[in-house]
Amino acid sequence: MKNIVILISGRGSNMQAIVEAAIPGARIAAVISNRPDAAGLAWAAERGIATVALDHKQYASREAFDEALAAAIDSHDAHLVVLAGFMRILTPAFTQRYEGRMLNIHPSLLPAFTGLHTHQRAIEAGCKLAGCTVHFVTAELDHGPIAAQAAVPVLDDDTEATLSARVLVEEHRLYPAVVKAFVEDRIRIEGLRVSIHNE
Ligand code: GAR
Repeated sequence: MKNIVILISGRGSNMQAIVEAAIPGARIAAVISNRPDAAGLAWAAERGIATVALDHKQYASREAFDEALAAAIDSHDAHLVVLAGFMRILTPAFTQRYEGRMLNIHPSLLPAFTGLHTHQRAIEAGCKLAGCTVHFVTAELDHGPIAAQAAVPVLDDDTEATLSARVLVEEHRLYPAVVKAFVEDRIRIEGLRVSIHNE
């Protein structure tokens, strides 16, 4: 059984998709949020999942917060750390600690549009395709080895809201599939290149 710890900051719809996928061989050991009022925390607690609120504002430095976060993750014996809308920049020491076993989902086709406001920026750039990326986390923000991507069309009348809703449907499909592949030990990483072997 592989223990998964999911980190969120808000709504937690990707966390829900992963929980609801009920991946055989995986146990959602805990959901941790840096925002005590994150809606996703209540959702997880209602389902009997251990929840932890670690308010980053209570820590003097990024390093101190990341140390507390690592202690919370490690207390749940995590094999895999899943960032699901976790909106904190992580220190290099933290990303190194979980190298090769920490995933993130980003709402763009990386390496395009790292950072924030990805959908608005894709529309303004005139992109015909947008999408999402699941990648392993490294010290460089939104630049780690890409495990999987999904693309959707950008339509002429799209707004940030309509495009993000179309991408989110793909996020909810893609992320559980990559987590399942990790749990089943079907993922290989070589430099920036990731291969996922068939079930
Ligand atoms: C998702 O769209 C995710 O891709 C994005 O935040 C949203 C969280 O939604 N993540 C980032 O922007 C990370 N840089 P959720 O809380 O409903 O899963």
